[in-house]
Amino acid sequence: MSVPPAGTALAGGTHGPRALRPLLDTVLDALTTGAEDRAGPLPPGGPDAVTRAVRDACHPILPAHGTGPHAALRTLVHTLAAGAADPADPHCAAHLHCPPLALATAADLAAAALNPSMDSWDQAPAASALEALTSRALAALVYPRADAPDALVTTGGTESNQLALLLAREAATTDHPTAGPLQIVCGANAHHSIHRSAWLLGLPEPLTLPTPDGTLTPDTVHTCLANLAGHTGPLLLTATAGTTDTGAIDPLPALADLAAHHRARFHIDAAYGGALLFSDTHAAALDGLDRAHTVSLDLHKLGWQPVAAGLLAVPGPHTLTPLTHQADYLNADDDTEAGLPDLLSRSLRTTRRPDILKIAVTLKALGRHGLGDLVDRTLTAAHTLADLIEAHPHYELHSRPTLSTVLFRPTGTTDTALATIRRTLLIDGRAVLGRATTPTGLWLKATLLNPHTQPGDLTTLLTLVEGQTPR
Ligand SMILES: Cc1ncc(COP(=O)(O)O)c(C=O)c1O
Repeated sequence: MSVPPAGTALAGGTHGPRALRPLLDTVLDALTTGAEDRAGPLPPGGPDAVTRAVRDACHPILPAHGTGPHAALRTLVHTLAAGAADPADPHCAAHLHCPPLALATAADLAAAALNPSMDSWDQAPAASALEALTSRALAALVYPRADAPDALVTTGGTESNQLALLLAREAATTDHPTAGPLQIVCGANAHHSIHRSAWLLGLPEPLTLPTPDGTLTPDTVHTCLANLAGHTGPLLLTATAGTTDTGAIDPLPALADLAAHHRARFHIDAAYGGALLFSDTHAAALDGLDRAHTVSLDLHKLGWQPVAAGLLAVPGPHTLTPLTHQADYLNADDDTEAGLPDLLSRSLRTTRRPDILKIAVTLKALGRHGLGDLVDRTLTAAHTLADLIEAHPHYELHSRPTLSTVLFRPTGTTDTALATIRRTLLIDGRAVLGRATTPTGLWLKATLLNPHTQPGDLTTLLTLVEGQTPR
């Protein structure tokens, strides 16, 4: 084969790595200089400054004659790194936006180079076998007593929740063909994707119960389910293990009892808290998880994976039957009968990245204990921050953290002043903090996901907030 011109070499085959190596040198240098130029958790100046910097560096993005691969990589990767909100910086702690492990990122490069597509076996022979092995191992953590637990790979918590609602709707239609539509009951603490998925699936608006203390109250759920019985169609109770705003975990065993008592299906959104399963210290906080019909997990939150790394765990393959779908070019009946695995029926997507590779590499490299240790360190950092806030004369702590989210505010600050503090730190490029509105007003939210965060980083974070607080 003749050597292709620069920039058109392919990533695969035996020549691919040789083509990739010098390009990777350029990429890694640009990542380094970009982060050095940013010198903080995010670029200073706000949206206008960042947009101008991107335009100045990258325009025209579609030139008549290209710059060649090294110049394009150097310019764009540097610009993106210099303008990134970098969750590897301990002061970038607004969202469930984790710093990915270098090893998972390296695995993702291999996934991109090989580019298996997970919609048919003939595009992903080994990748599909690895996906089956890995997703079943993770499902077994959720459902240790089930005979054949399984998990679908998704793009994150939103898709997992959406699939869970779809599977619940289809099961309800099969089990109660003449009953009314599935009625979802959730807490006010549920992720917005529950509501959006209900809308998307043509289901009634979820009945949303108050969660004044951040979690569902079994008494309130019992009263609601008892009142609904006989008046609506089948019911789906959804609970959350790790809420977006506070990291709280709903009382899973009591809710599982109630769902069973009222014959409601039960889904748990453990997109945030599911990773506690890796930790010997913290796994007990998820007791009751295995009593759900479906469980959302998401390793691009507390799992240190590059996006995307979601899963939907189920206790057995029968739960997934409603997803069975056939397209002759991908999973013809005779191919399936001849033993080619049917991948199309494992997702609503067709072409699908092998996101499982980075997850599998991480599990293999660190083991359950290694990942559990990262979980423990991250939760310890959250407790350290809570201790610092409690000991500080000018700060108020919302509550002790359950996972790694800490809500706090300077004492006596108005909601407007608090929102301004957050935006000022953001625009100055000094800290990325989130915000959460609870029944007691607005709070600053630190979602700690960096397992290497040190107490000194947290002290500095509080000093940065204090520097913006009007006295
Ligand atoms: C509890 C919970 N569920 C689901 C999601 C959605 O996850 P994703 O953004 O990966 O779709 C989030 C996102 O933060 C979440 O906090």
